[in-house]
Amino acid sequence: MIIKTNTEHLVDKIDFASYQERVNEIHDSIINKTGKGNDFLGWVNHPFDYDKEELKEIKKWAAYVRENYEVLVVCGIGGSYLGARAAIEAINGVVGKGKPEIIYMGQTFDPTYTSQCLEYLKDKKFAINVISKSGTTTETSVAFRLLKSLIEERDGIEFARKSIFATTDANKGALLTLCKQEGYVRFVLPDDIGGRYSVQTAVGLFPIACAGIDPEEILKGSTKAFEDAANPDLKTNECYKYAVTRFHMNTVVGKAVEMFITYVPSFVQIGEWWKQLMGESEGKEGKGLLPDSATFSTDLHSLGQFIQEGTPCFFETVLAIKNHRHSVLVPHDEANLDGLNYLEGRTLGSINDKAFEGTLAAHVEEGHNNNVVLEFEEMNPFNLGYLFYFFERACAMSSYLNGINPFNQPGVEVYKKNMFHLLGKPGF
Ligand code: PA5
Repeated sequence: MIIKTNTEHLVDKIDFASYQERVNEIHDSIINKTGKGNDFLGWVNHPFDYDKEELKEIKKWAAYVRENYEVLVVCGIGGSYLGARAAIEAINGVVGKGKPEIIYMGQTFDPTYTSQCLEYLKDKKFAINVISKSGTTTETSVAFRLLKSLIEERDGIEFARKSIFATTDANKGALLTLCKQEGYVRFVLPDDIGGRYSVQTAVGLFPIACAGIDPEEILKGSTKAFEDAANPDLKTNECYKYAVTRFHMNTVVGKAVEMFITYVPSFVQIGEWWKQLMGESEGKEGKGLLPDSATFSTDLHSLGQFIQEGTPCFFETVLAIKNHRHSVLVPHDEANLDGLNYLEGRTLGSINDKAFEGTLAAHVEEGHNNNVVLEFEEMNPFNLGYLFYFFERACAMSSYLNGINPFNQPGVEVYKKNMFHLLGKPGF
């Protein structure tokens, strides 16, 4: 089992059997694609039921980018970049630039961030992966216009055309029109998959492959998670056990916030991806958990006090790694002025584990916080694919338990309309 949902550390115990019948019904509606928003359930089978020819193209062009460019700019927002970023940082780390270096634009209008990126790129050989399902997202479109003009003015239109890779809808949108006109290499986000469920499509897989991570491993890991979720029995289905825990904490125990905790700085972006998945899927009709995230032990020195003794509005979901990928030993120091020789020869991984155990006991036994621990084997592309799918399926299950359509985002449109009106966009 790649992820085990350990509910031993819940202060408020759950009678999982009482949820079984409802879970069985929802499970069937996911598999048979009859649930709310069922035209967006393409992600359910996508890890094995995908366009094999497109995956070959993804690998081919990713190899070309790796061979020929110093930097890849991933230009997208929300579901159009968070999954790729989560994967690239989780596998390749946050320190060291890699080749090609991956940077992210199209997720902000901030002129400082944007001009710093453009300044950085002006002497670099860079490729662009512009990603937008709608093809009209303003943050992404504005950044892409700036990037396109930088590369066209510096290297010429022909070179620019070979350096731009677009991921968008198969049939509609301004980006598609532009792609066709300019002849950019193009990948497709299928109609029946929304942005926040798209990391296993070209949206995530092309940048992931450009970063040197095997996209097939992500898909195989997601397929394994699909297989492991095939039997809805809550005694064995770790994914649904987590989903029921979320729902129960929210609607029965009365918690408003779920804190996603990791002890690994390179998983911070997994937390960002998870927040979008859960928040945008479930936060509707005055319902749902507010997803928040923290990295321990870093944030124990900022949020730790609140978590231990503050308003008890939350529960914690801890992603606990069993096997660390690297071994770093605490060295001997003859003088021992820092008093650390008691740790000499210990690995940082084992110390991190003790920080986790001590924190868990503090938060549960004295803070009386509910903790659900997701025991995760180890980080690699296969297991990451598993983790992505595990959370996608759990999100669908807990949203349906809440009576929510997990696949729309009507609230997101409100700020856009206001902004368009204020900016004088025709028709607004
Ligand atoms: O998950 C979602 O649907 C959203 O976060 C979108 O991915 C995001 O708004 C970007 O949209 P688009 O890909 O159309 O530019």
